[in-house]
Amino acid sequence: MPLFPTMRPRRLRRTAALRRLVRETFLQPSQLVLPLFVRSGEGVRQPVESMPGVSQTSVDEMLIDAREAASLGLGGVLLFGIPDTKDAVGSEAWNDDAPVQQAVRALKREVPELVVITDVCLCEYTEHGHCGVLRNGDVDNDATLELLAKEAVSHVRAGADLVAPSDMMDGRVSAIRAALDAGGFTDTPILSYAAKFAGPFYGPFREAAESTPQFGDRRSYQMDAGNSDEALREVLLDIEEGADMVMVKPAGPFLDIIHRVKSETGYPVAAYQVSGEFSMIEAAGERGWIDRDGVMMDSLLGIRRAGADVIITYFARDAARKLRAER
Ligand code: PBG
Repeated sequence: MPLFPTMRPRRLRRTAALRRLVRETFLQPSQLVLPLFVRSGEGVRQPVESMPGVSQTSVDEMLIDAREAASLGLGGVLLFGIPDTKDAVGSEAWNDDAPVQQAVRALKREVPELVVITDVCLCEYTEHGHCGVLRNGDVDNDATLELLAKEAVSHVRAGADLVAPSDMMDGRVSAIRAALDAGGFTDTPILSYAAKFAGPFYGPFREAAESTPQFGDRRSYQMDAGNSDEALREVLLDIEEGADMVMVKPAGPFLDIIHRVKSETGYPVAAYQVSGEFSMIEAAGERGWIDRDGVMMDSLLGIRRAGADVIITYFARDAARKLRAER
């Protein structure tokens, strides 16, 4: 390779036009998915304290956010439900009239251009806050599968375009695929939270979704943060079981996993920039310690550059607005 002074990398950075010409990675609103938290009632908009700008809303208020998401050109929304009642097995999860199911029907009626993704998990619905049912104080993997399958079918019956199981039970993708197929929903794709790591980055979300485990933690089902080979095994297993898209989560601290999953599978990869990543940027921005918008955009661009096709992020609307303004 010719060395300096023949090579001068700065030549291509001299003007904004040149920089734009040779840029390798772009963000687009259509690649962003906005998470929304729905609960029952009317006119409800309850802010989540640890996540500025994020609220639990009733379905009517959720539609306002969703219309805005659509007008900004976002790719879709990801729905989480806060049920009126919780029990040991999470039975509100497959109640066809629970908030998520109502929200899905309203969205498909009122904002049909948005892809509606539903999070399939039991932790918001169980009184103990674990992602599956318990036996002898431990999460019973196999007994949980049929409940997750019922939940997914209920979401799709309501009209969900894509179901996203986030529970990390073994075998859930094939259980859900089989149940969807048996229900005649052979064309509904599954986005599996395939490499989901346990840890502190989900803290603020648990306030938003009211899903904090009442004892213990999720380390017996979510992955250990040190593991990359295992993440790939998880992803390959889910693909074999019928996942159409795979997710890595969290995103920013796991960019190497995103890159590896994309390059080794070639599958559509989603990355979830989770609540802790979001709240850290918001908090430092609020104090004036960082340029909040700049860090927001670079954090998203980094996730794209690592290989994510889709980013689930609480910044989705603000990022789309910025992208518009930059045009
Ligand atoms: C449900 C679920 C969680 C998140 C998405 N789905 C929480 C958890 O596993 O504890 C986290 C999202 C975020 O932190 O923004 N299992």
